[in-house]
Amino acid sequence: MAEAPLLNLQQITKSYRGGAGEQQVLADITLSVRKGEFVSVVGPSGCGKSTIFHIVGGVVPPTSGRVFLDGEDKTGARGQISYMPQQAALFPWRTIEDNVILAQELSGVKKREARAKARDWLARVGLEGYEKAYPATLSGGMQQRVSFLRALLSPQELICLDEPFSALDALTRQDMQRWLLTIWEQYRRSVLFITHNIEEALLLSDTVYLLSNKPTKVLRQIEVPFARPRSDKLISEPLFVSLRQEIYEQMKEEQSLQRGR
Ligand SMILES: Nc1ncnc2c1ncn2[C@@H]1O[C@H](COP(=O)(O)OP(=O)(O)OP(=O)(O)O)[C@@H](O)[C@H]1O
Ligand SMILES: [Mg+2]
Repeated sequence: MAEAPLLNLQQITKSYRGGAGEQQVLADITLSVRKGEFVSVVGPSGCGKSTIFHIVGGVVPPTSGRVFLDGEDKTGARGQISYMPQQAALFPWRTIEDNVILAQELSGVKKREARAKARDWLARVGLEGYEKAYPATLSGGMQQRVSFLRALLSPQELICLDEPFSALDALTRQDMQRWLLTIWEQYRRSVLFITHNIEEALLLSDTVYLLSNKPTKVLRQIEVPFARPRSDKLISEPLFVSLRQEIYEQMKEEQSLQRGR
């Protein structure tokens, strides 16, 4: 029998009640993440990507549908995933090292053990010497790395990243993509990654889910055909360029359908 996927969203729907009455945001979201898989969700602004994350994290209840983790129904349960928000969200009064170990500390890992691991990883991501510094003294890109390490080292198996690079300038963003690719290929955690950026999704992922406009469904599930380890040179290869173009056209068509409605 095939192993159950780590995360499995089954026919999730979500409506919000607002001033203008009930609004359906998610119409049917069914997707899964296998152990060690990197999965991206790409969709237009406002289609409900963050809402999907909040449902996976148990902080927003779905209107219908179920969230399974490791084959168990965990709909509405909190503390099951590791989460990196769009802004780094470090605690300004904690040192870099103490920010990295926060999730481990909360889950009962011994502080000494967590600190040793944090130091080791900070060095690996080029932040040696910053262990005792405070977040305000680091650049935006450095803070993102700290926030990412916190998510990476937390004990939950699934890491959810909600547009982690959107606040960065283009060059820093490219650096971070390259960096994430290398770290992930060594460490192979299970990742659910949200982005607007098709190129970023294709470069990093094993599977990409393309979402429609509201009420949101999965338009297409793409198994990314490129071998690993990947380098960022991949983005100029013909097969990559044509796949990116094809997805881009499909998203443009979806946008014009929306405007025609
Ligand atoms: N708590 C809430 N109450 C009412 N409506 C909400 C709530 N949270 C989100 N929405 C609505 O649901 C829709 C989807 O929001 P969401 O933040 O999930 O989109 P998104 O795809 O993450 O957008 P973006 O790409 O801009 O980050 C929006 O129309 C938003 O107004
Ligand atoms: Mg969002």
